[in-house]
Amino acid sequence: MDIIETKEKIEFDEKNPLIEIKGLQKVFGTKEVLSNVNLIFPEGSTTVILGLSGGGKSTIIKHIVGLMKPTAGDIFVEGVNVATCSEKELRAVRKHIGYLFQDGAMFDSMNIFDNVAFPLREHFKLSEKEIEAKVMKMLNMTGLDAERVSKLFPNELSGGMRKRAGLARAIIMEPKIILYDEPTSGLDPITSDLITQLILKLQKELGVTSVLITHDMKESFKSADYLAFLFEGEIIEWADNEAFKNTTNPYVRQLLNGSGEGPIQFSE
Ligand SMILES: Nc1ncnc2c1ncn2[C@@H]1O[C@H](COP(=O)(O)OP(=O)(O)OP(=O)(O)O)[C@@H](O)[C@H]1O
Ligand SMILES: [Mg+2]
Repeated sequence: MDIIETKEKIEFDEKNPLIEIKGLQKVFGTKEVLSNVNLIFPEGSTTVILGLSGGGKSTIIKHIVGLMKPTAGDIFVEGVNVATCSEKELRAVRKHIGYLFQDGAMFDSMNIFDNVAFPLREHFKLSEKEIEAKVMKMLNMTGLDAERVSKLFPNELSGGMRKRAGLARAIIMEPKIILYDEPTSGLDPITSDLITQLILKLQKELGVTSVLITHDMKESFKSADYLAFLFEGEIIEWADNEAFKNTTNPYVRQLLNGSGEGPIQFSE
């Protein structure tokens, strides 16, 4: 089935998005993972990026934070093109971005306290007392026993605890933008829901602009103002929550149905 027509229909009505991705292409070796990604993230909104495993979702957000450089295309964050800007400009942009890595990546040689404090020490000049107050507050906020957990090392934490500590680190700078790469995958449903509630709280109270990657449809519809579907290297659907739920796009319908039956098939 030809998906080009579906792709071309997307029009972004937002005039001043906080983040804008234009014509992003990323090739690893000979593999083109992203061919032409166009996407916007309006200020103060939460956008969920959906897609198949290995489709390039994490690759997109690594470009937003400047950890990867595109093969082609532009990524504007608060008006700065992070694809071409200087290291100094990139540092300034990163000061406003919290990033929860998919694997909850932590520095193994540092305890959780120092891991969570890391962005503060990188970007701000604060007293140790101020740092401690913030670190403990953030760890508690994510439902961890801060006193105990702060002294542990990453390899002493369960997967779920690591996610929470990663979340504490992502939000500690009270960033304007938060990128969540599968914040709830691998967690029990109750912890997942608590994390989702926390994301929503940050959104409402701080007016954060969030980008959320998840495979959990329930979580998606609870959190999202907008949803985008990445398929074969392009965003083939972008819509607000209600419109996305009701779309007739057969690719999105298959995704929503969580079905192996439909236009999306693996090639033999
Ligand atoms: N640094 C890299 N070098 C080479 N290939 C890479 C690199 N990073 C990602 N890839 C490849 O790009 C593709 C997309 O990876 P990515 O992690 O972005 O997918 P994803 O949509 O986040 O998948 P998942 O849902 O499983 O997390 C994969 O084929 C992966 O092997
Ligand atoms: Mg990923």
